Amino acid sequence: MEHEIYKAVDQNPNMKNYDETVKNFSWDDIEKNFSWSETGKVNIAYEAIDRHVDEGYGDKVALHYRDDNGTRSFTFKEMKEFSNKAANVFKAHDIKKGDRVFIFMPRSPELYFALLGAVKIGAIVGPLFEAFMEKAVSDRLTDSEAQAVVTTTDLLPRIPVADIDTLEHVFVVGDHEEGDKIVDFTQEIEKATDELEIEWVDREDGLILHYTSGSTGAPKGVLHVHNVMVQQFISAKYVLDMKEDDVYWCTADPGWVTGTAYGIFGPWLNRVTNVVVGGRFSPDAWYGALQDLKVTIWYSAPTAFRMLMGAGDEEVKKYDLSNLRHMLSVGEPLNPEVIKWADKVFNLRIHDTWWMTETGAHMIVNFPSMDIKAGAMGKPLPGIEASIIDDNGNELPPMRMGNLAMKAPWPAMMRQIWGNREKYESYFIGDWYVSGDSAYVDDDGYFFFQGRVDDVIMTAGERVGPFEIESKLIEHEAVQEAGVIGKPDPIRGEIVKAFIALREGYEPTDELKEEIRNFVKLGLAAHAAPREIEFKDKLPKTRSGKIMRRVLKAWELNLDAGDLSSMDND
Ligand code: PRX
Repeated sequence: MEHEIYKAVDQNPNMKNYDETVKNFSWDDIEKNFSWSETGKVNIAYEAIDRHVDEGYGDKVALHYRDDNGTRSFTFKEMKEFSNKAANVFKAHDIKKGDRVFIFMPRSPELYFALLGAVKIGAIVGPLFEAFMEKAVSDRLTDSEAQAVVTTTDLLPRIPVADIDTLEHVFVVGDHEEGDKIVDFTQEIEKATDELEIEWVDREDGLILHYTSGSTGAPKGVLHVHNVMVQQFISAKYVLDMKEDDVYWCTADPGWVTGTAYGIFGPWLNRVTNVVVGGRFSPDAWYGALQDLKVTIWYSAPTAFRMLMGAGDEEVKKYDLSNLRHMLSVGEPLNPEVIKWADKVFNLRIHDTWWMTETGAHMIVNFPSMDIKAGAMGKPLPGIEASIIDDNGNELPPMRMGNLAMKAPWPAMMRQIWGNREKYESYFIGDWYVSGDSAYVDDDGYFFFQGRVDDVIMTAGERVGPFEIESKLIEHEAVQEAGVIGKPDPIRGEIVKAFIALREGYEPTDELKEEIRNFVKLGLAAHAAPREIEFKDKLPKTRSGKIMRRVLKAWELNLDAGDLSSMDND
């Protein structure tokens, strides 16, 4: 197969040669970068923030936070002080090591203070995307038996405070009514001291819980531990190519794993100036941020690049983006057209990276020093053994499609699915962690993504589970049954499409479609709401009553639905 090759431009003498790095790599060597390799005292928040102050970099800018109101900047010393204050507020309310503290708020500096503060007292943080509505919030707090939530005035009504038995405190940033369990976070932060005895933990102690969707069942809590830092640090250094003077912007929200691994820990473990842009996407806001903050490294997703591409090349010419030197992508297949566009308008290559919530950090990457094959995700991160295996765990030769898998363990690997050992174990065949993606390797060792083997939907780089949406849909009074699939879309990768059979007495009108769409949007999350709804008299089901999404997908794509022997034809 012919692939367009984008040659590496080796201008930087420090640029790591991929093959050499793989040959000489050892995780033990990487661990020597951390203060705990000598002191034995571990806490990722110390390594990410406080340590740089102790080492004389207190005045360096750690965070530029920018939104429609302008830019607010914070040094490492200020990040240390504000996160210490947040930690002291949590402590004063008796939140302890191992407690689950959820952070449910839009991007703002306070989000970062709260998250780091919770980590500093040894709590397990659970970031929640701001678009989640009551049901999505409630499922996650209930499953993890959360003790606390930090939120804002606007989002507070979506937290079913009285219904979650374990919940002791809701910390609110901004105005709010008095209430049981409600604490004014802003006022308490002002009063709190910025001196803190940080909680030293074990490398294997819980750090962060990211809920993510599979094809069946409710969203599951993927638990990462402090040891995740080893791989997040080195991948940010080698792959995102972080250096002392870089200004780095990861566009992902911390409600998703990219927004914490590479929007918080990766850059700060590398002592790099980190940019966070709040508010909604617009080409002007984004190009403006790149220009005004003199961003040098930019990590985003194909959907965002396609949206910028759609805004036209004239738009980009209005800005001076000459500081930008390195671009990367994650979350969905990176189309060759997008690589071509970036080559033309920025004169830069986009480096694809593959990983997932469960892997905790990069797994398949394009080193800056590597040639890029358009359409390939790259090669395994040094220290990672990746392969294509069949369903019995046998490795397949190059050019054969199969399950993309990695040899367990690796430093950033998830350690638990919260409260569900069986689910955790279901990821593995022997020593192989099986990703749920299908892929092949070419003769040069580049990995090519082929698709998901399950029904998980990737829309605009966000992972949504059909089950969660179907469950919400059937709560609507008009819906008898519902099946949800991802439908290919030129901008978003996939969109959520629902097939619905209505109850007796309901007419299949456009108004009803709109009503059902809003029902999911307001009840679950905007990004989970079906962009397309199709009414059917009846949905394809197995004899045991399970909706056959595979058949729905075949209908949608005009494909042969394959073996239908298990289908109930009555
Ligand atoms: O299907 C793959 C897709 O995103 C899934 C993981 O989703 P999530 O856990 O939400 O993490 C997203 C970002 C870390 C994978 O199973 N995916 C991720 N990166 C790529 C990708 N698909 C194609 N190319 C990629 N580079």
